[in-house]
Amino acid sequence: MSWREDAKRKAAIKAASHIKDGFTVGLGSGTTVAYALQEIAKRIAEEELHILGVPTSRQTYYLALKQHIPLTTLDEHPQLDITIDGADQVSKDLNMIKGRGGALTREKIVASASKKTIYAIDETKLTEKLGANQPVPLEVVPFALPAVTGKLQSLDSKPVLREAERKLGPVITDNGNFILDTYFGPINSPKDLNRTLKLIPGIVETGLFVEIANIVYVGGRNTVRRLESRLVS
Ligand code: A5P
Repeated sequence: MSWREDAKRKAAIKAASHIKDGFTVGLGSGTTVAYALQEIAKRIAEEELHILGVPTSRQTYYLALKQHIPLTTLDEHPQLDITIDGADQVSKDLNMIKGRGGALTREKIVASASKKTIYAIDETKLTEKLGANQPVPLEVVPFALPAVTGKLQSLDSKPVLREAERKLGPVITDNGNFILDTYFGPINSPKDLNRTLKLIPGIVETGLFVEIANIVYVGGRNTVRRLESRLVS
């Protein structure tokens, strides 16, 4: 295992340690979350932990099923105790870019339904400013694609429709939408940009996670650091 994979795995284990018996848990998506799911399954078996997870993607749904992690829905549990997730880029004030796996909308929904949000990354994902060399994924209603593309270009950004691999055509999200990976360059105010983007009809959700993370575990070569936001209660 490379040091980065090991760092992600160790950070994910720390994140999963916040789960307590009886918790309802938002389960994010991605390769780091896959390690968290392994740890949750292990804790369920070893500690007889009773939890219920709400998966944010088909990937997480099937991984959880395979590892016998009991699942529920937001219909049944609209308020969650905690969300565990990964991220693509995290700034020092714990704002984040997410959505490389295309699950950003459901990931933001479970985060906002949770009392506490814990993220796990490897240290290469830490950055001074969000957006440098990293697009912001935007989930877009297909009908609105040309209009949204034009509006984004007029904001001096470069939107790129995410293409599927091993299938012709664009990626279709679990909600039936497209993803526009949008290059803004270094973002001075993620909060203002997020607000601007959310006002464009056809943009369902943005990959800018502003003032959402409570704790971020950052895996390095030898240690895992814990960063806390001022939002932690
Ligand atoms: C899924 O849409 C994303 O938000 C992921 O949480 C994020 O891309 C982190 O993924 P990895 O853990 O695979 O790097």
